[in-house]
Amino acid sequence: MALITFTSPLHKDKTVYAIAGSHKQTILQIAKDNHIPIDFSCGEGDCGTCLVRVTSVDAKNRMSGPLTDRERVVLKELGKLTQKDIDKMLVDDIPSEWRLACQMVIRDEDILVAYPSK
Ligand code: FES
Repeated sequence: MALITFTSPLHKDKTVYAIAGSHKQTILQIAKDNHIPIDFSCGEGDCGTCLVRVTSVDAKNRMSGPLTDRERVVLKELGKLTQKDIDKMLVDDIPSEWRLACQMVIRDEDILVAYPSK
């Protein structure tokens, strides 16, 4: 089980339980299931609408899975990551704070997901 806390400047924080390790439950799906208004459009990692910032809320090292190929492309286009950042993450196995909610699959860790909102 993972605790996911969604936070936004325009909405009350909401914490939900998520089943970790399914390899398919994304941040966006959990948000939809819990009526959390994360913006999205394509749902396939192409548009960048679902950009979120993910940080750990406990002392454990973050385990979040690596960026998908689509996330690498879109996060570079959005100016959130450089190729140098991505190369360093691959070498040092450091997770990115910037993620696409429709691509990031939940792991067994408690995280804070900051999302912009209309
Ligand atoms: S909704 Fe388009 S990238 Fe996530």
